[in-house]
Amino acid sequence: MLIWWGATAGKAMSIRDDPAMRAEEAAPLSCPSPGTAGEGVRFSMSGESSDRKPRSSLRQLPQAGRRREDEKLSAVLGRMRYKIFVMSGKGGVGKSSVSVNLAVALSEMGFRTGLLDVDMHGPSVPHLLGISENIRSRVENSLLIPVRARENLLVLSLDILLQDREQAIIWRGPKKAGIIRQLLADAAWGDLDFLFVDSPPGTGDEHLNVLRMIPDAFCLVVSTPQAVALADVRKSINFLKLMRAKIFGIVENMGSFRCPHCGGTIVPPARDGVRELARQAGISFLGSIPFDGEAAMAADKGRPAVSLPQGNPAGAAFHALAEYIKETLSG
Ligand SMILES: Nc1ncnc2c1ncn2[C@@H]1O[C@H](COP(=O)(O)OP(=O)(O)OP(=O)(O)O)[C@@H](O)[C@H]1O
Ligand SMILES: [Mg+2]
Repeated sequence: MLIWWGATAGKAMSIRDDPAMRAEEAAPLSCPSPGTAGEGVRFSMSGESSDRKPRSSLRQLPQAGRRREDEKLSAVLGRMRYKIFVMSGKGGVGKSSVSVNLAVALSEMGFRTGLLDVDMHGPSVPHLLGISENIRSRVENSLLIPVRARENLLVLSLDILLQDREQAIIWRGPKKAGIIRQLLADAAWGDLDFLFVDSPPGTGDEHLNVLRMIPDAFCLVVSTPQAVALADVRKSINFLKLMRAKIFGIVENMGSFRCPHCGGTIVPPARDGVRELARQAGISFLGSIPFDGEAAMAADKGRPAVSLPQGNPAGAAFHALAEYIKETLSG
């Protein structure tokens, strides 16, 4: 389960060590409903007896505490120039691949880049970056230290906080909100040019909370061209509009395929679906990343497409997209 920091400066503590959290694990349905606790929840580390305190070990911050937490979050976010929230209504379309490749490409251009993985049930950022199974975040002065995956790239993901990466997570919305807040506000991100936030599929608690906590985030939507993906992605664009989020645009992933034998490009019939969706929704079409077998195999081994030799079609497309982001936002 999650490693909590802050109880003792410089010392991470596993939830397994906390009797209150063990009770929570044993009875996951004891989480408060969204109406009873909000974002300002904290794990109790004081070891209060569970018959006097709520068994869930969550408590609501009093107003003043909540204000302080908000100020802390604003101060951390104020040191990050551009926040890019990568999302999609559909699973498996390449959100994590887009997040990882753009973050690596921009970090290699010399930008101080952060990558936060808020996918709690299927975090794949550490794997895609080749962060070893044994690497865990440290805690210093009650702050979580993100893992330095590259010279200019800091990474945080639940996977590098968990004692056991194979542990299943059963958390409801309020807990997730508290954790996302901590991953942002209680971590030593420092000054960043770009923060990428990778998300799980859909429009759930994680998305709602990220957009509430980072209202100036640029949302980058990912879709494949198939009709089943487009239908769900259309909903997620409507969700972003309802939330009055800043939609940076949509990226088509795996929209074409270069034949390794003849070198010709194979384009599926649904090719223009993402472009058409962008047109109908009135958002920018940012470009297309081809399906690439070499990139897929390299990703499995923890090597992003942008790190493959020049000429790799997916890598080249990710580089072009990173260049576009740099030009559009910071140029
Ligand atoms: N352009 C591409 N070419 C080849 N393989 C790709 C490409 N983009 C993504 N993949 C592969 O597709 C799989 C799914 O990608 P990824 O994990 O990035 O999707 P996701 O949208 O983040 O999934 P989830 O919804 O589970 O979080 C991975 O194995 C990844 O390596
Ligand atoms: Mg993913």
